Amino acid sequence: MSGCPFLGRKHHKPSQAEEEDESQKGINKATKGGIVYGEYLQLDKVLNAQVLQSQQRGDKIHDEHLFIVTHQAYELWFKQILWELDSVRDLFIKKHVRDERNMLKVVSRIHRITMIFKLLVEQFAVLETMTALDFFDFREYLSPASGFQSLQFRLLEAKIGVADHLRVPYNRRHYRDNFHGQESETLLSSEQEPTLLQLVEKWLERTPGLENDGFNFWGKLQANIEEGLKMEKHKLEKMEDSEVKEDLLAELNKQTEVFTALFDPKRHEHLLSKGERRLSYKALQGALMINFYREEPRFQVPFQLLTALMEIDTLMTKWRYNHVCMVHRMIGSKAGTGGSSGYHYLRSTVSDRYKVFVDLFNLATFLVPRSWVPKLNPSIHKFPYMAEYYDSSYNSCSSEDSD
Ligand code: HEM
Repeated sequence: MSGCPFLGRKHHKPSQAEEEDESQKGINKATKGGIVYGEYLQLDKVLNAQVLQSQQRGDKIHDEHLFIVTHQAYELWFKQILWELDSVRDLFIKKHVRDERNMLKVVSRIHRITMIFKLLVEQFAVLETMTALDFFDFREYLSPASGFQSLQFRLLEAKIGVADHLRVPYNRRHYRDNFHGQESETLLSSEQEPTLLQLVEKWLERTPGLENDGFNFWGKLQANIEEGLKMEKHKLEKMEDSEVKEDLLAELNKQTEVFTALFDPKRHEHLLSKGERRLSYKALQGALMINFYREEPRFQVPFQLLTALMEIDTLMTKWRYNHVCMVHRMIGSKAGTGGSSGYHYLRSTVSDRYKVFVDLFNLATFLVPRSWVPKLNPSIHKFPYMAEYYDSSYNSCSSEDSD
């Protein structure tokens, strides 16, 4: 024991005072000039923007503060979503996605949008701590203001790709009639820019493997499915007559109809004209291909993108649903401050008409046993986007965006 170097020496344990000193060791940089927190965030503007109409009229109602802050928080998050959405659209527009490495950026930003939407879907719960009666106390003061006039919400819908002709009319009028001047122009021009849907569509049309004179995914898939269905039918016909056999044959007939329609381009055009499909025929094929080969390294990120796009639709539907439930609770079936029928109008917007990526959801209808999926040949690793990346005509587009 006597050889122990620590023996007889006290282990230095800092006193509490010394520890406190440790915690105080920093230098207060703000004293040296430069921008400080409140200035950087322009909090003078943000935190002074809560003007209670009830207070202005000498009848201050406590909950109006929550009502205003909640709406402002929503608008700020809408702003961030638009920021991300514009940057993603820009990556597509400038053809940066032809360099596959930029796809991760696209997916990360779309994923960020979905995380914000999750927050927005939940955020109604805070406002719901206000009772209908509390709302009634100040509701008259805000008329005719309404979320219906939210420019950012409309921009968001338009830029993602909500189809104009599929929207529910508002008192039989176009939603844009509620906007005037600069706001109306901004909306109009956003409707003329390529939407996220259109950009994704063009990207999907280039899915490697669709080329008729190459891997010819569509042709091979059709042949395999026809063969698979024929074999199934043959197997079922050999069964002894029974109710089960009839049911199975009826089910197989339905399946056959589904696939006959899938491989019929005219049928696709018809569904497009009705708004039941939104993607071009080629893009639909690309999306199905990505689904089937999602485990291939080449298709993993594209598959993540398709999943995230469906998530946006799902979350927007949840947003509409949570909003309408809250509205029902707050104003029953009274008309909205913006002048619509209120609950009934909003309920009609919780519909597939507003789903932009509806085709991606419907892909599950066309899934087939793995053994029917055309086998990839090793050259698949050559034809994806890298080939385009090496094409000198894309060189100018292969750099990152400027941020
Ligand atoms: C007490 C809470 C709320 C009530 C009673 C309410 C009520 C309504 C009503 C009745 C409408 C239909 C248009 C009209 O006639 O006014 C509407 C639309 C809308 N509200 Fe709210 N709202 C509330 C909270 C919110 C919040 C927190 C947001 C967040 C931004 C919001 C955003 C919107 C949007 C974007 C629309 C247009 C929806 C569409 O046309 O599809 N609302 N709201």
